[in-house]
Amino acid sequence: MERLAQICDCRIGTARGELSRESLLAGLQDADGLICMLTDQIDREAIAVATKLRIIANVAVGFNNIDVAAAQQRGIYVTNTPDVLTEATANLTWALILAVTRRVVEADAFVRAGKFTGWEFDLLLGSGLSGKTLGVIGYGKIGRAVARRATGFGMSVVYCGRDDIAYRDDPQHNALMMSRQTATAPLNQSARIDGLAARRMTFNQLIETADVLTLHVPLAATTRHLINSAVLARMKPSAHLINTARGPVVDETALVTALQQKQIAGAGLDVYEHEPLVSAPLIEMPNVVLLPHIGSATRETRTAMAMLAVENAIDALSGRTPRNTV
Ligand code: DGY
Repeated sequence: MERLAQICDCRIGTARGELSRESLLAGLQDADGLICMLTDQIDREAIAVATKLRIIANVAVGFNNIDVAAAQQRGIYVTNTPDVLTEATANLTWALILAVTRRVVEADAFVRAGKFTGWEFDLLLGSGLSGKTLGVIGYGKIGRAVARRATGFGMSVVYCGRDDIAYRDDPQHNALMMSRQTATAPLNQSARIDGLAARRMTFNQLIETADVLTLHVPLAATTRHLINSAVLARMKPSAHLINTARGPVVDETALVTALQQKQIAGAGLDVYEHEPLVSAPLIEMPNVVLLPHIGSATRETRTAMAMLAVENAIDALSGRTPRNTV
């Protein structure tokens, strides 16, 4: 707020929680800039009332809450907060992987319930990670940061990127990608990216190969319900699904069914399809770890995200192209 006050007058919509739609629309009418959260829906209607607006600075790397096309039509910058949250989100992804495979939450509840009456050879057995395969869907900065950590746990890494996802049902895809000069590796060849050896696969190969499948894609038309009943049915029954990306990337109803039918072994979720609602059956499942969308929630990272959003807003209001324009 101090930094912003150096260049403009600022109004705080709400100190905590979501801004009501009414207040958002009213506030936007005479605003030159907006700093908003992923819970604020900045859709075509909101953009239409904001006749003076020059920037929408989202305090998140994901920006599926903003109608970017509508903003661009009006010449309004849209910015996000990449990079500063990569390591925190990758760490939380691993917290979920370890928690769900080693039953950490269940074990904690066990002790708190006074059930720990003595060491037992086969008490709360989990699944090991060493020698297993981590499947990373979406190989951007966060996906790669998650993959880098896998070597420390003795896992090999397979991944698929944006095109492998977008063309997942296109039989021509492999041939097409092989013939293209891409920044990533050809399909099915292990290659070093950022010093990490990882094997690129088609989406369909990857879901059948991964022991732990972790999602790092933005929410878009091509990724909504990317993980659906057909995909879940093709995963290994011993596999765990981890989602720290966006809830609607997973068809949550299909996930519940897959878990009930033991098509997969468990899940670690930080995000939900109808956030903040969580499908009731998930709450009862011991093989599921549930977090309240805290992927980037460290003091350091959230401070850095806030400051970056502020600098983006200042860029635009000072007549410069913002540093994180999407
Ligand atoms: C993001 O940045 O998109 C996260 O979901 C919140 O940090």
